[in-house]
Amino acid sequence: MIIVKTTKEFNQARKALDGTIGFVPTMGALHEGHISLIKKARTDNDYLIVSIFVNPTQFLEGEDLDDYPHKDEADIKICELSKVDILFVPTIDQMYKNDELSIAAPVIRGYVLEGAKRPGHFDGMLQIVMKLLNLVAANKAYFGKKDAQQLSLIMQMVRNYYIQTEIIPCDIIRDERGLALSSRNMHMNPEEKSRALCLSRALRTATDMVTSGNLNSLSIKEQMLGILQDADRVEYVAIVNREFQETEEIEIGNTIVLVAAWVGKPRLIDNVWI
Ligand code: PAF
Repeated sequence: MIIVKTTKEFNQARKALDGTIGFVPTMGALHEGHISLIKKARTDNDYLIVSIFVNPTQFLEGEDLDDYPHKDEADIKICELSKVDILFVPTIDQMYKNDELSIAAPVIRGYVLEGAKRPGHFDGMLQIVMKLLNLVAANKAYFGKKDAQQLSLIMQMVRNYYIQTEIIPCDIIRDERGLALSSRNMHMNPEEKSRALCLSRALRTATDMVTSGNLNSLSIKEQMLGILQDADRVEYVAIVNREFQETEEIEIGNTIVLVAAWVGKPRLIDNVWI
């Protein structure tokens, strides 16, 4: 594995790869969720590139940028064991210059739910993903469905800007009790982790209601809110179509049920695709 820190070094290492390339962009603190993306990218492609960059432009003022977990040594080990070919770990000044061209998330899909709660977050996320996709020029890039709105916006950006990389959505990875894996979970104590299970429990209830024929969004959301009382604060429960428009009825094959809630220090998100 080659570890590179500058775009110049990256370009040199990238030029030497002759074959299909899979790319997994991350912010580090790698867990089983990332590892599942890395494994899939490894299997699908001749070469594997992973980036680790905690992108400051996608954190709003007062968010957890300074607290964002760093596990550099463990991350390097995981990448080595996963047979990564190039690990790209740029510094901020490698990725950003003064007076940058900016990218704005689309008005509807980019400014509801996560976009409404974190205005500007998706602009910064799209900006770095655009840079990385162009720099890496991979055949395929892998993103988790846990960040459903992020995934949907990246797919739209790739379509709108004719980016040649194929985006591969990957399933949410959960621990044995059902908690969706996230780097932020490490900020919860055992009691908070137990309470955080209410997110996946609420989503399971939604799926069960749909399976038993109840497609009414309002009644599903009411049931979910009851279960989510274990969280410290619920930010939203939403039932949307794949365009991120709220729907009154679940349409099987075109619906995402999403939840965002605070449990202890972290703000957690989770969802299920129906
Ligand atoms: O999902 C993430 O970890 C980040 O948003 C991403 C896609 C690596 C961009 O910084």
